[in-house]
Amino acid sequence: MKKHIGLQFLEASSYRHTGESDLKKGLPQPPLEMPYEGKTIDLPNPLKAVLPDMSLKEALLRRESVRSYKKEPITMDELSYALHMTQGIRMMKGTTATFRTVPSAGARHAFETIILVNKVIGLESGLYRYIASEHKLLPLKAAPDIASQLVEACRDQSMVGDAAVTLFWVADAYRMTHRFAMRGYRYVFIDAGHVCQNLYLVAHQLGCATCAIGAFDDERVNEILKLDGENQFVVYAAPLGKV
Ligand SMILES: Cc1cc2nc3c(=O)[nH]c(=O)nc-3n(C[C@H](O)[C@H](O)[C@H](O)COP(=O)(O)O)c2cc1C
Repeated sequence: MKKHIGLQFLEASSYRHTGESDLKKGLPQPPLEMPYEGKTIDLPNPLKAVLPDMSLKEALLRRESVRSYKKEPITMDELSYALHMTQGIRMMKGTTATFRTVPSAGARHAFETIILVNKVIGLESGLYRYIASEHKLLPLKAAPDIASQLVEACRDQSMVGDAAVTLFWVADAYRMTHRFAMRGYRYVFIDAGHVCQNLYLVAHQLGCATCAIGAFDDERVNEILKLDGENQFVVYAAPLGKV
């Protein structure tokens, strides 16, 4: 009898079937970050941003998914803070590991963040990659109608284009599977939850709100963001907009 897809996934990613990882085979560790070239844009120091204080209790109690936002832009300070609190690096262990504001299995941190900028003061609309190692933004080539392309690829969820920014969390899966083989995929998906939850928790402090997005056309989103869809693919997304 054919096994339920959930069981197939659990088996494929269970310790019993993972097989030997590339780490155990002695293959070199992939870089901690996807390579990049081009001129980057400085982000302000996220720890110096002047923001209203909010207790963790209040952040947790106010957390909710919000799908419509004011037209108001966010500031670079606010963007910088949101990026740091979701994927920022708080400590480097040489060239072998990063420790960030979220946990990650084996500290493998397999995500890159690509952001669609719609309304950020001092930043042109378009597509950028967050370079976590330097806390900078790398402008990416994008069509003038990139926002509407991404709205459509996210099953016409207009919040993607209405928000000040929409973050796309891209797995660079080999960073995880190099150590954990098939089980690494499980960890990539679990890790994504932590990242998005942090965005939910800081959104209110920024006078903003967010909403997790898991419903999108994988092939289309990966194609628009020029990801191979095999090793690099979007796992999760979330807009951030003023409320
Ligand atoms: C994995 C995941 C995927 C989700 N995908 C979407 C989505 O694509 N679109 C959407 O409007 N909400 C999405 N949501 C938000 C849920 O609908 C929302 O969390 C739920 O309705 C509970 O509401 P609350 O977050 O306000 O408590 C997603 C939530 C999770 C955790």
